[in-house]
Amino acid sequence: MVAQVTRDREGPTMHSTHSGAPRESYSDVYARSIDDPEGFWLAAAEAVDWEVAPTRALKPTDTAAPASQQRWFPGATLNTSVNALDRHVRAGDGDAVALIHDSAMTNSVRTYTYDELLSQVERFAGVLTAAGAGVGDRVVIYLPMIPEAAIAMLACARIGAVHSVVFGGFAARELAIRIDDAEPAVIVTASGGLEPGRTVAYPPIVADALEIATHRPAAVIVKDRTEIGSPADVLAESGAAVLDWDTEIARATPHPAVAVPSDHPLYILYTSGTTGKPKGVVRDNGGHAVALTWSMRHLYDIGRGDVWWTASDVGWVVGHSYIVYAPLFVGATTVMYEGKPVGTPDAGAFWRVIADHGVRALFTAPTAIRAIRKADPQARELQRYDISSLTALFAADERLDPDTFEWASATLGVPVIDHWWQTETGWAICANLRGLGPMPIVAGSPSVPVPGFRVEIVDGTGEPVAAGTEGNIVVRLPLPPGTLLGLWNDEDRYIRSYLDTFPGHYLTGDSGYIDDSGYVFVLGRSDDVINVAGHRLSTGSMEEIVASHTAVAECAVVGIKDDVKGQRPSGYVVLKSGVEIDDEILRAELVTMVRDAIGAVATFRDVTVVAALPKTRSGKILRKTIRQIVDGEPYTVPSTIEEPAVLDAFEQLLHP
Ligand code: COA
Ligand code: AMP
Repeated sequence: MVAQVTRDREGPTMHSTHSGAPRESYSDVYARSIDDPEGFWLAAAEAVDWEVAPTRALKPTDTAAPASQQRWFPGATLNTSVNALDRHVRAGDGDAVALIHDSAMTNSVRTYTYDELLSQVERFAGVLTAAGAGVGDRVVIYLPMIPEAAIAMLACARIGAVHSVVFGGFAARELAIRIDDAEPAVIVTASGGLEPGRTVAYPPIVADALEIATHRPAAVIVKDRTEIGSPADVLAESGAAVLDWDTEIARATPHPAVAVPSDHPLYILYTSGTTGKPKGVVRDNGGHAVALTWSMRHLYDIGRGDVWWTASDVGWVVGHSYIVYAPLFVGATTVMYEGKPVGTPDAGAFWRVIADHGVRALFTAPTAIRAIRKADPQARELQRYDISSLTALFAADERLDPDTFEWASATLGVPVIDHWWQTETGWAICANLRGLGPMPIVAGSPSVPVPGFRVEIVDGTGEPVAAGTEGNIVVRLPLPPGTLLGLWNDEDRYIRSYLDTFPGHYLTGDSGYIDDSGYVFVLGRSDDVINVAGHRLSTGSMEEIVASHTAVAECAVVGIKDDVKGQRPSGYVVLKSGVEIDDEILRAELVTMVRDAIGAVATFRDVTVVAALPKTRSGKILRKTIRQIVDGEPYTVPSTIEEPAVLDAFEQLLHP
């Protein structure tokens, strides 16, 4: 791997911390976090408003204790919505803008001051309570990118309820799986969402999900977006009370904040694992508030009054952490964008939002930059906008490939910073920390471990490997605050998936290496999880659907390279003997089945009929080898292969 070192364009003098935090070098801060985690995180906790302040950071500190029982700030209590809202109002910043909703889909902008957002959150907290949600009860939020999504999340936090946001691009079956696992007291949804060229009607999807699910919520609250989507009548038969958001909020009694223990769950966020059953990642309140508050100042150099924009969706962890919670914790203004990087209306959409709102830093996925570059390679649209407010672009969700990094750096003239993280960790594991001293940006690397994360590379037996050698990326326990408490209702799976493989370490599921200067390179997943346009998806769940087709004997779905989306799913199917079906008809049927079951976001479009799938002698499908053949990468024929001829036939078919 050729590492190209690019000096930070602003140069060291511009790199003093904008937020006013004292400037310490990265290596000093990192060393403190590892040598004295108690002292380090207790000091960081001082930036958070507690009802009962912590006197200890981590429990148990005994490293022999089961890692799954690790808890941050035991004995302390707080309310997350107080940290996001009330504290700024109390400090006299009630008139400051908390949230700007910019919809390229409806050509509208709505702003909320901290006062206004607090008032909406207090009222909706009252609505939720009246609808039957209390401390510890779950609330499923299935909403498009509208301010009500943030209001509903913060209202849950206010009453100690546990939200579980489901991405709007998931279909009824996926929603039903999450409803049955989280067993919500209330579901919050809207009449509809907007995608380019079509309206997504949410009530029929929720109605279908409730037909599939066995769990019944007490109420479904529907935000009516006049003339967008469809009426809530379709939910009448669902067995839940159907309530109108606007009617209820108008008559609600504002609800005070309920202080909860630090390790009380704030949310469950389902993410794809290797099987069809998603993993319900559980986040706490206290560790989350401390970690995200710390990250805004030290990773992103964003503080009170800054305009910050994360172009993601509240349905993903990036949206949870950096559209909603973190910017509000530090009193910044968060931009929530309903639209796409291209086509709404053109490839200048991002530059327009930056210019209109004076965005200081943008956080997005590399796929969005690639989409803009493809539509407007010379960045002509940029000439129409003044984006001089922008000081940095942060990218995550997949590797920022050097080509895209170069293009974005040259086009925008600001530091372009890759950082690596996961739903499970809730914030970055590796980053280039802008709030600390300047450090080189290395193309293709998300830079160095974030304080608190002890990142190591180990081989299959758990032995550390030499610098520059690829292996499993693991994090030595304990994980820092803000990372997962566990998996909802499934401690066994948590231990099995993350903690058992290499005792004493958290398994990230990614593979990569660390170079001589300590820079980490993340090369891809070592499991069957794929990343399509920044969306984490399970090939296992697609295989389940494809395999259920009456003509299909067996199948494999792998993530192959895609110029814009990074990866896309590609299916290989073996027909049942004697079955005759036209390839095109089969493809259309399978595409529809996956779209109906998982959702449009799966973008499952490629189907190839093959005579047999390459397997090991124990019957395991060689998915990695299939992927390497399709992508034209070199591969070694595994010694455990059952029939080498099957692999040859595969090669012949794909690269005749
Ligand atoms: N609700 C309903 N449907 C949705 C949806 C949502 N919230 N989000 C996506 N979809 C649908 C799209 O309409 C599309 O449907 P179609 O097949 O009928 O056209 C399908 O899912 C795929 O959508 P998308 O992944 O957006 O692909 P695209 O080709 O339309 O656009 C990009 C490609 C790169 C522009 C787009 O994927 C993008 O903006 N990606 C960035 C993602 C991101 O922000 N990730 C997290 C950042 S940290
Ligand atoms: P998610 O849980 O949806 O955030 O997806 C997490 C996965 O996305 C990680 O395990 C990585 O495989 C990938 N990922 C996220 N950010 C990066 C990055 N900066 N570089 C490489 N891979 C990334």
